[in-house]
Amino acid sequence: MRGPSGLVQRFLRATIHFFSYHLVMRRRSSWRTKVAGLQFVVRPTVFHPGYFISSERFANFIDRLDLRGKRVLDVGTGSGILAIAAARSGAPTVIATDINPNAALSVPENAQTNGVRAQVQPVCMDLLSGFAAGPEFDVIFANLPKHNKQPRDLADRGWHSGPKHRDIAPFFAQAYERLRLGGCLYVMLSSHSDLDVIESLISLAGFQWKIIQRYPIFIESFVLYECRR
Ligand SMILES: C[S@@+](CC[C@H](N)C(=O)[O-])C[C@H]1O[C@@H](n2cnc3c(N)ncnc32)[C@H](O)[C@@H]1O
Repeated sequence: MRGPSGLVQRFLRATIHFFSYHLVMRRRSSWRTKVAGLQFVVRPTVFHPGYFISSERFANFIDRLDLRGKRVLDVGTGSGILAIAAARSGAPTVIATDINPNAALSVPENAQTNGVRAQVQPVCMDLLSGFAAGPEFDVIFANLPKHNKQPRDLADRGWHSGPKHRDIAPFFAQAYERLRLGGCLYVMLSSHSDLDVIESLISLAGFQWKIIQRYPIFIESFVLYECRR
């Protein structure tokens, strides 16, 4: 783990997680929000793109890409924010996947509200396990669960990916197999992730990679990797 550490940061992170989990992630009703110029209904258990800042940072990055003619995959789509941003950037086809069935239900309604329903297709699955291996995509986006503790439940899977990021470990090899030659995976983690584990998984999968953005916030930095096949 890199970046700020020590008792104060651990305490702050635990406090933020406690309140986020009990007040936001475990909410019982759908909430409405507007992020990156897009409108969302966020169903219970779905990662909230307004309260959790990484979503907007990543969507703003996608806004600057030209995705015309690209076949795009958004893994761990949540409300669908990155898939919808990709469609807004011109992608004619975006597959949006999540392990949370409430996310898969949210994506079509949010895509409809934002005028890109024809481009965005939701799928509920664990990582890319439901796709046959084969070079199908030009670009993959993934704003993954960044913290390496056991998730408490489905809602907490937006935040935690298990000890040593166990729950997302197979993703990098799966993504490599499904990208066309020259295709690119953009994946966001945090200075509080175990980046040594993540970087070795990216390298082992076969990617040429670099960090292209760091987005500092109060207690951590989000880290955006560009991984080329
Ligand atoms: C940090 S949230 C990001 C959500 C959304 N992409 C955004 O930027 O707001 C991570 C998402 O990954 C999903 N997720 C966690 N583990 C997963 C898995 N094994 N397979 C698919 N999705 C997963 C969570 O349900 C959550 O929606």
